[in-house]
Amino acid sequence: MSTQSFENSYKNLLFAQFYEFIVEKLGIGSIDLQSVKFCAKNFGDPILEIGCGTGLKILPLAEMGYSTVGLDNSPQMLSILQQKLEKSERRVKERVHTIVGEMTAPPIEQNNFRLIVFASSQFLHLSNDEQRLICLKSIYRLLADNGVVYIVNSKQEDKPEYDWIEQPVEPDDEWVLQVRRKWNSVAYQEDFKIISKIHKQQEYSFCWHLYPVKDTHMRNLIEQANLQCISLPSDLPTRPNSNIYLCKKSV
Ligand SMILES: C[S@@+](CC[C@H](N)C(=O)[O-])C[C@H]1O[C@@H](n2cnc3c(N)ncnc32)[C@H](O)[C@@H]1O
Repeated sequence: MSTQSFENSYKNLLFAQFYEFIVEKLGIGSIDLQSVKFCAKNFGDPILEIGCGTGLKILPLAEMGYSTVGLDNSPQMLSILQQKLEKSERRVKERVHTIVGEMTAPPIEQNNFRLIVFASSQFLHLSNDEQRLICLKSIYRLLADNGVVYIVNSKQEDKPEYDWIEQPVEPDDEWVLQVRRKWNSVAYQEDFKIISKIHKQQEYSFCWHLYPVKDTHMRNLIEQANLQCISLPSDLPTRPNSNIYLCKKSV
């Protein structure tokens, strides 16, 4: 297994500012939100989101009344979440606690989380088994005895490759998003160009890399971390081309 890993743009403030524009244009702005809300309703709080970014999951959960903690290793992504919190009602602000840190070494003492969420593609940013296992073992430590972990893992065989494609624009969009997707030696690389509609020479380039894990291998890692997969409730909202895992502590 290769340990090579590639940079992502999350620690670039401009990228953080454009993040929600990018995911909205990709049509994934609210991906997993319904499943995360479903888990919150069924398993309760406190909730920890690993890789909470700009708060696309954690803010709606706090607005619903759940007590949340968001961990992210990008102060830039968290700064966008903080800006949104500044504009939120006090009761919402009080329900969101953010922490800068690595998912392989979460600097968190609290160990009573009823729900720990890796929605979107956070877990897929880990590039090798050593990191994945350390991360899952850390999560075990933070989980309440009756708590549940929610993890999304895309099916690697379904990831398409294509050269630059422009996403559809709305008349009042100031920017255009172009996307390129390809497999490199070990990762699925998504490149983004953001181009001003008015000043064509104003252009920014960003990227992220995903390291999908085969389903059977993922289940193996989960077991090695002393967690066990439970059956998915039939009414859990799912998403196409992905495997979803709900895990509890093994008894
Ligand atoms: C695809 S974004 C998802 C953000 C948010 N959860 C959402 O649904 O929009 C992935 C997030 O994971 C964070 N991340 C990536 N690698 C990380 C790591 N090793 N430790 C902590 N956070 C990480 C990134 O900074 C980014 O904010």
